[in-house]
Amino acid sequence: MCALPLCTMHHQSHAPIGLFDSGIGGITVLRELQRLLPAEQFLYLADQARCPYGPRPAEELRTIAAACAAWLIERGARLIVVACNTASAAALADLRRRFPAVPFVGMVPPVKPAVAHTRSRVVGVLATPATIAGDLLRDVVDRWSGGVRVIEQPCPGLVEQIEAGALDTPGSMELLHRYVTPLLAAGADTIVLGCTHYPLLLPQIQRIAGADVLLLDAAPAVAGRVVQVLAERRLAYPESAPAGTLTYATTGDPASLTRQIERLDLPRGPVQAARLELDMEPAAKS
Ligand code: DGL
Repeated sequence: MCALPLCTMHHQSHAPIGLFDSGIGGITVLRELQRLLPAEQFLYLADQARCPYGPRPAEELRTIAAACAAWLIERGARLIVVACNTASAAALADLRRRFPAVPFVGMVPPVKPAVAHTRSRVVGVLATPATIAGDLLRDVVDRWSGGVRVIEQPCPGLVEQIEAGALDTPGSMELLHRYVTPLLAAGADTIVLGCTHYPLLLPQIQRIAGADVLLLDAAPAVAGRVVQVLAERRLAYPESAPAGTLTYATTGDPASLTRQIERLDLPRGPVQAARLELDMEPAAKS
């Protein structure tokens, strides 16, 4: 059940769409949403005090995700996009149970379109360790792989490189070579980007994989699903709405999120500080 007495009161169409992720990865989903819904108000929460989520156990991720969702709901979010594969895999069902009045849209690794596309009948999936360990990926692979071989490659360390803005660095390229080369050696002609941070490394991954390998990002499909859910729930923004807005909040340092957004040329917006109500201490920063 929803712990917040106010959580059913903000479903007016002028309330924002909330998104959350461990950091800047979910902005790759936000970008697609802004394209489809230019008049929307977006509120993006980056839980950078606890980034990365990838090495964390599922139970801890559920606690964190519930706190992120509660924070967004308190600020009026009328729909929440879990713009993080790791949190979606661990917590999506739990979030829907806890906050039944709010529609949630989560990330699903695009295994189905990858299987439809592959000619070599080998598909690679790049994701965080928690996503690889979770049931969600196993379910989509069981459901959609058919006779296609799906190779799941955990990518520890990549999210940290992206958060540091270290895209074209020897460190990032070395990790990418380590993770992508085995997929190519096994004959993969299609690679699923199973973490919302990874599209920020798309040119680097494409350079290693070669132009013939298709890289699949779920963000456009997830943005499309948001539009569908808004229509089904009669939550769509009025067409006469003024230009959209975007506000960021971070549990980390607002000044450094501002710099990350500028450096990676991500959609601009003011950045606020956020504090989550959590029973646990944030992990020490490495
Ligand atoms: N963007 C998150 C995802 O899609 C990254 C998780 C992390 O912080 O490790 O999985």
